[in-house]
This record gives sequence, structure tokens and C-alpha cells, in this order.
Amino acid sequence: MTKSRPRPGGEFKVALVGCGRISRNHFEALRKIDGLTLTAVCDVVPERAKAAAEREGVASFTSYEEMLKRADCDVVSVCTPSGLHAAQGALAARSGKHVVTEKPMAITLGQADELVKACDDAGVFLFVVKQNRLNPPIQLLRRAIDKGRFGRIFLANTTVRWQRPQDYYDAAPWRGTWEFDGGAIMNQASHYVDLIQWLVGPVETVMAKTATQARRIEAEDSGVALLKFRSGALGLIEVNVLTYPRNLEGSITILGEKGSVKIGGTAVNRVEHWLFADYDDDDKLIESASTNPPNVYGFGHDGYYRNVLSVLRGEAQPQTDGRAGRKSLELILGIYESAKIGREVPIPLRSGV
Ligand SMILES: NC(=O)c1ccc[n+]([C@@H]2O[C@H](COP(=O)([O-])OP(=O)(O)OC[C@H]3O[C@@H](n4cnc5c(N)ncnc54)[C@H](O)[C@@H]3O)[C@@H](O)[C@H]2O)c1
Repeated sequence: MTKSRPRPGGEFKVALVGCGRISRNHFEALRKIDGLTLTAVCDVVPERAKAAAEREGVASFTSYEEMLKRADCDVVSVCTPSGLHAAQGALAARSGKHVVTEKPMAITLGQADELVKACDDAGVFLFVVKQNRLNPPIQLLRRAIDKGRFGRIFLANTTVRWQRPQDYYDAAPWRGTWEFDGGAIMNQASHYVDLIQWLVGPVETVMAKTATQARRIEAEDSGVALLKFRSGALGLIEVNVLTYPRNLEGSITILGEKGSVKIGGTAVNRVEHWLFADYDDDDKLIESASTNPPNVYGFGHDGYYRNVLSVLRGEAQPQTDGRAGRKSLELILGIYESAKIGREVPIPLRSGV
């Protein structure tokens, strides 16, 4: 079904479910953007819903279904535990609302497909938050690849060396569980897996090892994966949330025939190497592209919501829609499958994985 008709210059109302850690980035972004207005929040923990509602001056709900029935909104932002995103997103779509879902959009491909289908059937947009794609250095890197500045790409690496103490997992029972979260690769590194496949993909095969070395959780606290891209390039993903004593690195490196780039910092926010055989005017933008975000979530939720607004007004395409979100989920699940069976796994995954 075609999407609901754009409303040029329109104003849109947003309701948000899940008033936890990441909801603050959504609230801050929504406060800044003329054209998007928060109207309601929901959390199963009444004090959280109430506190957020009072702070933002909006309606408060403890039942998601009630909020969908009663809140005045065009868009629903889903910020609950990852295992709930698909079902809650699909409910919103069936109520005729556009859906913004936090990453990952789902934790199985079956759930992801149901969500995409529910949004298609209802003719609403599905946006999957991948705010790191919007970091200025990452946008410049994407442009350099699109312009062919690397020549052939030989190797891509992404590294996540972060610290998540046991307290972080103990603070919310869904964290680190297979049913609602997954481990360091599905949660903390999902942006990085997304970036490597978005910049250098498609991925042809993956071979991985994961381990739960120090955190008392079901899923992994560390993992490594070797990738072969369809282009012939090789790739390496390294993820660890046990890094002493704090978040040290969130980076992506690309090495090609005529260029080498590393975007590093703690959350792909700083250009560390930018070397190309041929000059391009973009080279002048490198200094100003490096940012110093307050935390590893970065500044990107503003940019993300600006894209949502532009799409609803008919001025742009979604930065990351459901089908784009599904691609990085498929690679993450391929990593898990390879670690489980101890063999290289082809992408796309065979059905049933
Ligand atoms: N984009 C990013 O960089 C980024 C960063 C952090 C987290 N996230 C994602 O955001 C999501 C939430 O993570 P978090 O760290 O904010 O978690 P959190 O545990 O701090 O918050 C989740 C909230 O959802 C509420 N909730 C649970 N079940 C609910 C239900 N059925 N209905 C209504 N509310 C419900 C909980 O009470 C809690 O307040 C996760 O999927 C995570 O992967 C994304």
C-alpha cells in the first residue's frame, strides 16, 4: 500500500512509550524541532510516566493500548526494551500512526518482518533510529565512498571498546536477556554493525566468536566477527563492554587503494585519519566535522527527528526505514548464528535462523 499522503508544511503530534534512559534524547530533540510536538508519554512504571509527563507538560499513561486509543498523536516513538519494539510498533501502525522505533527494530527477523508488513499494510512510515549515521564525520565518509575516493576498498574495521558495569544490567531486568535484548553486539554495537554494512556492504559471509566473560547476563559481553563483503573486501568487528576503566573507543576504519580513513572518538565522532590520494573540497570540512558529544548516544536524535518531519511533509526519504533497519539486524543475527554453530554463515540468512 502507498504511504499516507504527505502534508507539506504540516505539524505533527508525537506520543512516546518507554520513559527510560534513551527517552531523554527523544524529549530533548522534540523540544527543539518546530513542527513536531510531544503530546503524551507512557510507561508501565507509573512514577516514570508521571515524572516525564510533568516535566514535558503532556498527558501520562501507564497502558500503551490506552495511549493509542486516547492520545492525540500522528506518530508513536517506541523506546521500550528491544524485544517489545516490533509488537508495539505494529500496534501503533494498525492504529494509523507513523512509527519511530529505537534500535534495534526487533530482535528476530520474524518480528522485523511483521513490523515492516504492519506499516506497509497501514500505509504509515516506519523509521528506525540510527542516529550515528548522521554524525558529521560519518556523513563525510559516506560521501567519500559514494564519490569513489577510496578506489577499491580492501578492509573495513569497526571497534567498540566500552564499559557497561554490572550495575547497568542489574538496573533493568530485560538487559542482557535473549528474550528482550541480546548482548553487546545486538545492543551497544548495533550502530557499528549498521555502519559497517551500510558503508561497505552487502556482506557475503560472517564468521564469529562471542563470549560472556565477566557480566552476569544471558547474552554476550564480548565478540569478534570476520566479514567477507560481496565486493571482495574483508571486514572485522570487535566489540567489548568490559573495557577498563571507561568507554575508550567507538570507531570505524576503512582502508582502500587510494584512501585511508579512521573515524574514532568514543562514538564515531572524531576524524582520526583522513588520507586520500586526490584532493576534494570535502577535505576542508574535516576539522569542523569532529564533535564532542556529552555521551556515546551523541547528538543525532535531533537530526533523526528532522528527517522524520521532512519525510512526513513530503520533502525527503527516510534516513533509515524498516528495510534498512532489517539489514543490520540480519548481520547481527548472522554473527550470533556463526558463534552458535562454529562455522561461517552466508548472508542473507536461510529462513528459520
Ligand atoms: N539510539 C541509541 O543510541 C540508544 C541508546 C540507548 C538505548 N537505545 C534503545 O532504546 C531502548 C530502551 O533502552 P533504555 O536504555 O532507555 O531502557 P530503559 O530500561 O532505561 O527504559 C525502558 C523503559 O520502558 C518501560 N517499559 C517496559 N515495558 C513497557 C511496556 N510494555 N509499556 C510501556 N513501557 C514499558 C520501562 O519501564 C522503562 O522505563 C532499547 O531498545 C535500546 O536498545 C538506543
